[in-house]
Amino acid sequence: MTSPRTRRLAVLASGQGTNLRALLEADRAGELGGSIVVVLSDRAEAGALAVAREHGVEAEALDPGSSKSRLEGEAAWLERLGRADVDTILLAGFMRILDARFLAAYPGRILNIHPSLLPAFPGTHSIARALEHGVRVTGCTVHLVDAGVDEGPILDQTAVAIHADDTLESLTARMHSAEHALYKRAVHAFLTRPFTLEGRRVTWQ
Ligand code: GRF
Repeated sequence: MTSPRTRRLAVLASGQGTNLRALLEADRAGELGGSIVVVLSDRAEAGALAVAREHGVEAEALDPGSSKSRLEGEAAWLERLGRADVDTILLAGFMRILDARFLAAYPGRILNIHPSLLPAFPGTHSIARALEHGVRVTGCTVHLVDAGVDEGPILDQTAVAIHADDTLESLTARMHSAEHALYKRAVHAFLTRPFTLEGRRVTWQ
């Protein structure tokens, strides 16, 4: 009997890479259910690239095209992911919308983490918007990526209480800790536990 193939993961990140670091540490501890084999960024100066290299993972910045919000030139990105023989993609602070051709190449196999309890506060500046709105509870969401922005079926969520004396800095710090714990847990579940999808509702078996 052959053992099942290790799931090969790519992480796409635009920022400092704290979520990436938490995922790489979980991978190293054997807690991810798969292995991160490549990290790609749309920004050559992204801290995430340095975090990947620090962990001995291949990391590369690729041209995202001229749009400010969408990923263009996806053929080069798909070629790079194909060369790394990736089967699952994790977006970790990747600030570009993926087009239909990209989504079709990895159907149901692209995950994203978002810093709010979706469907509240999709889009950018979600932590600040939750604080300004005066909600008492916010949180973070891991979801499958579809053609909408922060709209795909929800895999897991964690609530984060907002305190009366919270500042953007204090809330952001707690949100990041919650994200780091949630993303590795959700990825592990996604890679190791069967689930059904009815409409947008995910039921873990
Ligand atoms: C995270 O808050 C993530 O949810 C959002 O962008 C941020 C990325 O932070 N989409 P980092 O680069 O992982 O530190």
